[in-house]
Amino acid sequence: MVNGNGKPLKSRMSGFHKLSPDEKLEAVKEFSNLTDEDVELLKKTGALDIGAADRMIENVIGTTEMPLGIATNFLINGRDYLIPMVIEEPSVVAAASYAAKLARTRGGFTASSDDPLMIGQIQLVGVADIEESKKRIMRNKERIFDMANKCDSVLVKFGGGVRDIEIREMETKRGKMLVVHLVVDVRDAMGANAVNTMAERVAPFLEELTGGKVRLRIITNLADRRLARVQAVWDKDVIGEDTVEKILDAYELAANDQYRCTTHNKGIMNGIDAVVIATANDFRAIEAGAHSYAARNGKYEPLTRYAKDSEGNLVGTIELPLALGLVGGATRTHPIAKIAVKIIGAKSTKELAEVVASVGLAQNFAALRALATEGIQTGHMRLHSRNIAVLAGASGDLIDEVAKRMNGEKNISTGRAKEILEELQK
Ligand code: MEV
Repeated sequence: MVNGNGKPLKSRMSGFHKLSPDEKLEAVKEFSNLTDEDVELLKKTGALDIGAADRMIENVIGTTEMPLGIATNFLINGRDYLIPMVIEEPSVVAAASYAAKLARTRGGFTASSDDPLMIGQIQLVGVADIEESKKRIMRNKERIFDMANKCDSVLVKFGGGVRDIEIREMETKRGKMLVVHLVVDVRDAMGANAVNTMAERVAPFLEELTGGKVRLRIITNLADRRLARVQAVWDKDVIGEDTVEKILDAYELAANDQYRCTTHNKGIMNGIDAVVIATANDFRAIEAGAHSYAARNGKYEPLTRYAKDSEGNLVGTIELPLALGLVGGATRTHPIAKIAVKIIGAKSTKELAEVVASVGLAQNFAALRALATEGIQTGHMRLHSRNIAVLAGASGDLIDEVAKRMNGEKNISTGRAKEILEELQK
């Protein structure tokens, strides 16, 4: 590969990690033929300055920005919330706010959640006497608890720590394995650091007890002891009896078809991820946990359920694992994430999980309502029309003017935007 000046370039950049962000940027500029303008844009960091970003991850050359919107109208367990959402997709914030508004007639969202229990897995292979090993582990339960709890005195001080040990046995292609689960109350942390440290700490003792060899020592992202549950009732007189029936039909497709179910759950994650990202939580952990939980019965299922109550109103529920943190990690170091947490006002990860799950349910209701009635493209394209106007070359006041005309004509496309722009510029 050569750059614009014909110089051969290799991505094997020895010592790259030792360069300053500016020097790294210079190297990338050369490799990828970036312009001076590109470099200037990359240097423009926002509230997360380059130093903080550089301490967060490796090989940093800049930061990136996404829109931060506020979902309104949320009434959860009798409390009003404004909810920050970070997402690049139009319609999501508006849809969540709309669903929350419609839910208010019947009291908004009723939410609950489990204690913040996470599981650390320790894999043991080559255990000669499985039954005897299990007994030994259980006889030494208290010692294992002590050993693990000593890793995190702060967690223990705040009421967290190991709660249980479970032993699983599995037959695999590589022989029988024992998997020990450490069930840990991680309080207001996401928990990965605490649990992984504990799992590593007790592993040698488990080898001693079983005569086996430890392989993996890691948290599971299937946080199925840390579920959040939410219910909301949408009044039939507010949304229309016909809409109740249409939503139930739409839901039934997701319940019976994996192709639809994937999209159904994607819509839920639109809302969930947006709040998770706003608070700088680990959205990959949340995604992995959610989809794994959706498949827990051996079939990929919707994370929400819908039914009619005795009066014919639509009752929606959601249940999913939500391993969120308020202490540690980027939630505490990213300046905007700190403000996002402040806007929500969540005092615990349980409360945060209840808020996040409510947004997931609201998002899903809004998508089903739109899909089952007028379709989502009308509203979506209306919101998207400004982006299309920009893509067609509009700037300043012309953006709104082009968007307005396209919306009026119900013809929203880059082609039409260009034509309107030309007319306006004449
Ligand atoms: C788009 O991002 C999300 C939807 O496709 C969700 C759904 O179909 O339920 C609208």
